[in-house]
Amino acid sequence: MLSWSPAIHALGVAEMDATHEEFLRLANETARAADDDLPHLFGMLLEHTQRHFENEGRLMRACRFPASGEHEGEHRRVLGDLLHMRRALDAGRLRFVRLYVAQGLPDWFANHLATMDAALAACLKRAAVSPPG
Ligand SMILES: [Fe+2]
Ligand SMILES: [Fe+2]
Repeated sequence: MLSWSPAIHALGVAEMDATHEEFLRLANETARAADDDLPHLFGMLLEHTQRHFENEGRLMRACRFPASGEHEGEHRRVLGDLLHMRRALDAGRLRFVRLYVAQGLPDWFANHLATMDAALAACLKRAAVSPPG
């Protein structure tokens, strides 16, 4: 599991930082959930992640992010993994899903944050200080 640390995870774009903090909080809560609560919390994590990625898509278009194809492709891949996990959960594979949420997903997130999300935040910060044109 991975806990939100502003010094490590904050990118300096308030709405992205708030979303990422909430994402890690939900992922940790889901990983630690009792078996009976796991499907509900996983559903909340999935919905949150769908909104997270939609919002980043909007931010990418707003600053004409040059690597948006790659970034959106990565989001689609992870959403596919989450939908696969939803089906695994429906099939009763709780340990498998819990392990993914506790380890696979946070590992992916730490790497994605440090690369694609950091690049998007830099693009947004440049756009905020540049005159329109
Ligand atoms: Fe993100
Ligand atoms: Fe992203």
